[in-house]
Amino acid sequence: MSSHPDNKPEIFRQMPADGLNVLQITDCHLYADPSRCLLGINTLETFDQILEQALREAGRPDLIMATGDLVHDASDSGYKRLLGRFKLTEIPTYCLPGNHDQPGKMTQLLNQDNVHCIPSVQSKGWSLVFLDSTIPGSDGGRIDKKQMALLKQLLEQHPDKHTLISMHHHPLPVGSRWMDTMVLEQPQAFFDLLQKHPQVKGILCGHIHQNFETTYQGLKILGSPSTCVQFTAGEDDFAIDPAPPGYRWLSLQADGEVVSGLNALPEIPSGLDLASMGY
Ligand SMILES: [Fe+2]
Repeated sequence: MSSHPDNKPEIFRQMPADGLNVLQITDCHLYADPSRCLLGINTLETFDQILEQALREAGRPDLIMATGDLVHDASDSGYKRLLGRFKLTEIPTYCLPGNHDQPGKMTQLLNQDNVHCIPSVQSKGWSLVFLDSTIPGSDGGRIDKKQMALLKQLLEQHPDKHTLISMHHHPLPVGSRWMDTMVLEQPQAFFDLLQKHPQVKGILCGHIHQNFETTYQGLKILGSPSTCVQFTAGEDDFAIDPAPPGYRWLSLQADGEVVSGLNALPEIPSGLDLASMGY
C-alpha cells in the first residue's frame, strides 16, 4: 500500500525510518448504522478514508493505537465493523476505551487476532502502556486506584524501557473551558508516580479532537485530531473547527525521543454542521 517515496508529502519525508513507528487514530465515533452521521459527517466514511490515507502515506507502521471513543453508541455492530477494518490491515492494533465506549464490551468484541485490548506491550526498547481513563456514567476522566496500581507495576517491571503512556482523556487542561471540564481528575498522584520513573517519556491522548503538544515535568504531552469532527482550540464553549479529519504518527526513537507529526484528509467532508451547539 505504500507509494513511491518521492510522492510522499513533506511531513513524511521528516519521519525517521528507524525507531518504533506508530499510527494513532482516535475518536472515530462509529455507529451501529453505517450511514449515520455525527455533526453532519459520516464517521465510517472518514474513518475509512483516514486509515487508507495514513497507511498509504506512512507506509506500514509497526503498530496502530486507537485511543478511545471508537464507537459512539457502543454498539456490538460498531465494534465488529471496526474489528473487521483493523483485521484487514494485519497490523498489531491496540485499543483503549473513551467515554463513549463500553470498556467491557469493547474488550470482549475487539480483543482477537491482531487487535488487542491489553494494558501494555513492549517492542524495540519501548514499553507502551494503555490506560483506561474512563469513569462509568461520566464524560470525565480519571486514573482510578486499579489503573494506578497497574501503571505502577508496569513501570517497576520495565525500568530500562522508554515508556509512552496512552489514554483517552487529556491529562492537562488544553485551554478550552468546556473541554477542560473533562480533564483528568486529581492528576497529582498520577504525575507524582511518573516523576519517580524517568523512563517515562510522554503521554498520548485522544478526546480533545484537536492538536495539542506541550512539555510538562519533562514529559511530552500529545493530543490529536479525530478521524471525524474537530473542536476549535481555545474556545470557552463547544465549537466545531472547520478542519478535516486527521491522524498522528509517532516514531519512538532508540534514545527515548518521541518524534511525532500530524496529517489530515485534503478536504473537509461535505455536510459538516458548523452551527451545532453540542453533540
Ligand atoms: Fe471522548
